[in-house]
Amino acid sequence: MTKNLSGLFISFEGIDGAGKSTHIAALAEAFRAEGRAVTLTREPGGTPLAEKLRAMVLGDAMDPLTEALLIFAARRDHLVNVIAPALRRGEVVLCDRFTDATFAYQGAGRGFDLKLLATLEQWVQADEGLLGDPAGNQPMKPEVETVIEPHLTVWFDLPPEEAALRLADARVPDKFEAQPVEFFRRVAQGYADRQQGHPERFARIDAAQERAAVWLAVRQVFVAKGWLS
Ligand code: TYD
Repeated sequence: MTKNLSGLFISFEGIDGAGKSTHIAALAEAFRAEGRAVTLTREPGGTPLAEKLRAMVLGDAMDPLTEALLIFAARRDHLVNVIAPALRRGEVVLCDRFTDATFAYQGAGRGFDLKLLATLEQWVQADEGLLGDPAGNQPMKPEVETVIEPHLTVWFDLPPEEAALRLADARVPDKFEAQPVEFFRRVAQGYADRQQGHPERFARIDAAQERAAVWLAVRQVFVAKGWLS
């Protein structure tokens, strides 16, 4: 039985408390059970350098531009060293958050200029041979318009009030988790706007359902695409 073995890049999004982690782990299992190699990773983070940047972004106070630049620096390192090589090997890359989170959190949440974020996205995610050339280290060509983005983004949509209840009995909150519910209302709207802009890439999951129902809905998205049987 031959399956489509080209690389698959999947991101998972949603406000803090939306409950994506267990489903990401379950998907990794499901893909592995069907013989696929899986790279399970996250943003900000996924490489030693990007994990250091994550600790700063989640722990230290900084102005919004610094925050956005550190997140995109982490993304570049992650893309070049982990995501693109795994895709070239034909693996399934499951990434807990990607650039939609920057548009939702830094853009909608913090009010940072979306046009500037889009420019950074173009620069940082320019394909420039990353997916095709095993060396993957050509110089920057910012005029190149193709950007590397997920084939699919699973968006766990949960009302911010519900997420706040779930977070209330979670561990010590990081910088974002400690934000008031109004911040998460803006972030949630940011995700809705991103879906509107990329309807073909987004799969919205109603994350207010009980966990088993959420899992069925998530799995169904992958079955419908022919990526899981
Ligand atoms: P999260 O992915 O929720 O991990 P954990 O389960 O360990 O809390 O935490 C990452 C946080 O970083 C989350 O609050 C969202 C934030 N974030 C941004 O603000 N911008 C980004 O571009 C990304 C990727 C994450």
